[in-house]
Amino acid sequence: MSDALLPVFSPASVLFDHGEGAWLVAANGERYLDFGAGIAVNALGYSHPHLVGALERQGRKLWHLSNVYRISEAERLAERLTAACFADVAFFANSGAEANECAIKIARRHHHAHGRPERWRIITFDGAFHGRTLATMAAGGNRKYLDGFGPPVDGFDQCPLEDIEAVRARVGPRTAALMIEPIQGESGIRPVSHGFLRQLRELCDERGLLLIFDEIQCGMARTGHLFAHQEAGVVPDIMSLAKGLGGGFPIGACLATRGAAFGMRPGAHGSTFGGNPLAGAVANAVLDIVMDDGVLAEIRRKSALLRGLPCRP
Ligand SMILES: Cc1ncc(COP(=O)(O)O)c(C=O)c1O
Repeated sequence: MSDALLPVFSPASVLFDHGEGAWLVAANGERYLDFGAGIAVNALGYSHPHLVGALERQGRKLWHLSNVYRISEAERLAERLTAACFADVAFFANSGAEANECAIKIARRHHHAHGRPERWRIITFDGAFHGRTLATMAAGGNRKYLDGFGPPVDGFDQCPLEDIEAVRARVGPRTAALMIEPIQGESGIRPVSHGFLRQLRELCDERGLLLIFDEIQCGMARTGHLFAHQEAGVVPDIMSLAKGLGGGFPIGACLATRGAAFGMRPGAHGSTFGGNPLAGAVANAVLDIVMDDGVLAEIRRKSALLRGLPCRP
C-alpha cells in the first residue's frame, strides 16, 4: 500500500484493474469471483450497463447543483423510495454514517419540537455498527473503534439483543428512540428475530419513542425484499440506507414518516453533496432493477440454493 495513504486500512496486496459483473480482474489478468461485493455495496456487480449508462448520461448534463436549487434526480429518487415503504420523506447524504447522523438528529429534533427537549437519548444494541463519525461510533458502542478518541459522544445507551425486558428497563424519561439493524452486519450477519423487532415496535408505541432501522447493510434487496423489515412485517419510523443504494456510487439516505420528521424545517440539517444529480441518477438506475419483483424473487431463489433450503417464491 502506498505510504501516501493514511494507514487506517491494511488492504490485500492484489491490485484490481476492473470489474465485469460478478468478477474482479486484477492488473496481472487474474480473475476473481467476487463474493465481497465491496462489503454489500456493489449490489448489481461491476460495470452494470444500466448503471454505467445512467452515470454517463448524467455526467454529460449536470454533476452538481447546490441544494438551494431543486434537483430533479433527488426528487424522483425520494418519491420512488418513499412510495416503496413506510416513509413520507427522504434526506440524501453521501455515506451510511451520515444517513445515521440524520436519523439521530431527526429523532432528537422530533421530541424537541413536541416540547420534550429532555428526550434525546437513543437505545442501541450490543454488536451494532452504525458508522465511524463521532456520534455513530458512540451509537455502535464498540470499544475497539472508540478507544483513543476522547469521551464518546453522549446520548447512547446500549442493551443486549433479544432481551425486551432489558430494553424496557433501559427506557427512561430521557429516551427518544431505539436504533437497530434488523440484520446486524459488522458483527457477523446476525439476523434479529422478527419477534424481537415486533416487541421493539410495541414498546416504542407504548412509550412514545421512535424506532430507527439501520438498513444500510441489510437493505436494498439484499434479503430478497427491497428492505429487510418488510420480510419481518415490522415498520420503523425512520430508516437509514446507503451501500447498495448507489450500486457503488456514494450515496446515503435517511427516510422517515412525516410525523417522525416533525421539527426538521429549512436549515435544521444539510449537506453540500448529498442528493447530487450524479448520485441521484445512478441510484434511480439501481431502483429500476432492484424494484422489479422478478429480480427480488431471483435473489430469494439463489439465496435458498446457497443455503440448501427449499425455494420459497
Ligand atoms: C449497518 C451499517 N451502518 C452504518 C454503516 C456506515 O456506513 P458508511 O461506511 O458508508 O459510513 C455501515 C458500514 O459498514 C453499516 O454496515
